[in-house]
Amino acid sequence: MTVPGAWLDASVGLEDRVAALVADLGEHELAAVALGDFTPLTGRGLPAPDYVDSGTGLRGVEGATAFPAGVALAATFDAALAEAYGAAVGAEARSAGFPVVLGPTLDLARDPRAGRIPEALGEDPWLSGLLGAAHVRGLQGNHVIAQLKHFVAYNGESRRTGYGLGPDRGDAVNVVASDALLQDAYLRPFEAAIEAGAWSMMGSYNRLNGAYTCESADLLDLPRRQWGWRGFYCPDFLFAVRDDARALAAGLDLGALGGPGGRTSEMVADAPPGVVRNLVANVVRALVGSGLADDPLPDRPAEGAAGPADGPSTPAHRQLAEDCAVASMVLLRNEEGALPFGDDVVSIAVIGPSGSDALFTTGGSAAVTVRADRVVTPLDGLRARAGERRVEASQGSLGDVPLPPVPAAAFVLPDGSGPGVEVVVTAADGSTRRETRPVIDQAIDPAEGWPGRWRARLTSTATGPHRLSLAVSGRVRVQLDGEDVMVGARELERFLDGPAVPMQVVVDLVADEPALLQIDVEPGPAIVIPPMGLGPSLRLGWQLPDDRHERAAAVARDCDAAVVVVTMACSEGMDRDTLALPGDQDALVRRVAAANPRTVVVLNTPGAVLMPWLDDVAAVLQAWYPGERFGAALARVVFGDTEPGGRLPVTFPRSRADLPGGDRDPASDPTDLDYDRDAGIGYRASAVRERGALFGFGHGLDYAASTLRVGDVAASGGVVRIGLEVTNPSARDTTHVAQLYAGVAGEAPELVGVVRVPVAAGRTVRAETTVGAASFARWNPARGARVPMAGTHELWVGAGSADLGRPFRVQVEDGQVVDAS
Ligand code: BGC
Repeated sequence: MTVPGAWLDASVGLEDRVAALVADLGEHELAAVALGDFTPLTGRGLPAPDYVDSGTGLRGVEGATAFPAGVALAATFDAALAEAYGAAVGAEARSAGFPVVLGPTLDLARDPRAGRIPEALGEDPWLSGLLGAAHVRGLQGNHVIAQLKHFVAYNGESRRTGYGLGPDRGDAVNVVASDALLQDAYLRPFEAAIEAGAWSMMGSYNRLNGAYTCESADLLDLPRRQWGWRGFYCPDFLFAVRDDARALAAGLDLGALGGPGGRTSEMVADAPPGVVRNLVANVVRALVGSGLADDPLPDRPAEGAAGPADGPSTPAHRQLAEDCAVASMVLLRNEEGALPFGDDVVSIAVIGPSGSDALFTTGGSAAVTVRADRVVTPLDGLRARAGERRVEASQGSLGDVPLPPVPAAAFVLPDGSGPGVEVVVTAADGSTRRETRPVIDQAIDPAEGWPGRWRARLTSTATGPHRLSLAVSGRVRVQLDGEDVMVGARELERFLDGPAVPMQVVVDLVADEPALLQIDVEPGPAIVIPPMGLGPSLRLGWQLPDDRHERAAAVARDCDAAVVVVTMACSEGMDRDTLALPGDQDALVRRVAAANPRTVVVLNTPGAVLMPWLDDVAAVLQAWYPGERFGAALARVVFGDTEPGGRLPVTFPRSRADLPGGDRDPASDPTDLDYDRDAGIGYRASAVRERGALFGFGHGLDYAASTLRVGDVAASGGVVRIGLEVTNPSARDTTHVAQLYAGVAGEAPELVGVVRVPVAAGRTVRAETTVGAASFARWNPARGARVPMAGTHELWVGAGSADLGRPFRVQVEDGQVVDAS
């Protein structure tokens, strides 16, 4: 039964409603809320802050729409689409009965290998802030709560939750970063999303300057004192809080994503004065301020009960998912009008993992389950749109998947004495024993001792390139005849609903000639949660040489054009080992390109990849993880029904060493990461500025080949006014994406604005945009804020970070633009 009170009265001001409810709660009720028991609130007509994971659609909700990944949304460079996307996710959360949505993810793409690049909004603070804020506005417009992730400086998976099993798990990674760097980069997306009204934030797993973010009073207070934020914090799952009493005193409102976490009644009783009352007020304020009290959620369907066939998804949401996917596809290269396919293309070879083996979503907590009856695969989409054209498919490569297990017949003990794999197991008391196992394909139960070294003579029946894959939860080094072939770490083989993320290598083996295989495995970051069936494991798979490439090339040779889809899986809980496409896919692309000059490569990948075959192919289209309408969106772009709208929200470096974190030896996994050492990330990294990128941030071609001319530039009313003239010489409508970059006091250019100029076929359109002094701001410790820097700065208008042309000079004084030329 609901107790009526002023907190339920929509005519009363927010703070009075919060105060009325908090005053109505007894001490034991306040303590209950601090311990994650929300019955004192539900009894007074508010919902418990139950959550659903969602960066890119609702995780674990039957029928939810699988939208394109966050990085794809970022590639649209379009705040209106981000708002519509957030609104659709929010509407689905509401209809499924969830008050708190864990998302959007606002962690910057600092390290090109990072496992969560697909779910976040790219490398640029301004763009992430623009789109994150729009997403939040759309989402919370449904009267639900957005929980921003992950506060803050969580930009890679390595050691995010520490290393080791059980209570001995070591500390999480420690990010070292100056105030200036945090304020001028990593905090900015959060600030923008909070300005847009976000009611909640999730504290991250990592440490920052020595302290766990969820236990740092100074850090948790920053959004409150600096941005006036009045929402509530929740820590990330299990490992984010190591000292619950300290976290409570520091201002971490809830002790866990559900329940008390490690918080006890004693801790709550001993908390400093005001802490408990404050945290309850913060939670209540979010529940009331978001509109949840005045616009109650529908009841969530009972567990196991049949809901509507499409769950919370609607045809309009699926259309939006498709439109976002189209708008996110980045045409990286297009030689001699290879795309779009016109009437001259009457036969098309579709190669690579382009059926249900394509990748639709990322892994981990941002993974959405794709419904087999609804998903449009690339092949289905192309076939449906091809009409009378002939479409031939050939898989060519299995893509980025765990391969079939290496059979027992391939293993002989290292001394040749018999079949099997020799395993050295270390018991809890430190003693070791040798065992023989038939294959390398099992879950590891640490209670039975740790199987740290696996050795065998590996013999194939074939000669040639063999693919090996290792699905692992733990940390491994794999050697073949004494040489490292795979080194890396994974928290799990597969994280929640997403794709598996095996390590991959191609090695040359000769039939009947054994190679000595040695695998050293440590628990590393393996996550062990027995009730969820999660724990360490090791599974070696392989693929013998076969004629897949040859067959694909034959099909490509026989068609007017070839579309090759290549995949790279990615997930929370693992950083990628390299930027190279996994397995045999580079070889496949080369083979197909040699067979057909009109070869179009579709990158079904999370972010930057290397393209050793780039000069050999006609076109490259970056598709990211496009969600359930992948094929329909791809067909629209390939056949030119719609422009590929995307621009790169991440830099594609020439080498991964060119980006911060990119040169990290996968064997090292440092505990400390010095962010100040290479402070410029992505397109602002010094190596990228010196050597250029394979494709720069902001790059993206359009079919229309629209051009931009900058007209008058002048200071007026304290801002710079810039005249733009966009010409569309083509016979198709398009949108030109003009990008504004500021160079503050001689520093590297940095994105400060995007102007989308729609321009009809054959027309020229004039537009004006303004840039204020805030675009030339830097952290000012004395003022405790980002403040426009007085002085002479530069301003560029261009079509991408690597395509800027001549800068204008902008003079800022007293927080105003006073001159521009
Ligand atoms: C992730 C969060 C997620 C949470 C709950 C964690 O491992 O880091 O982003 O919201 O799990 O699923």
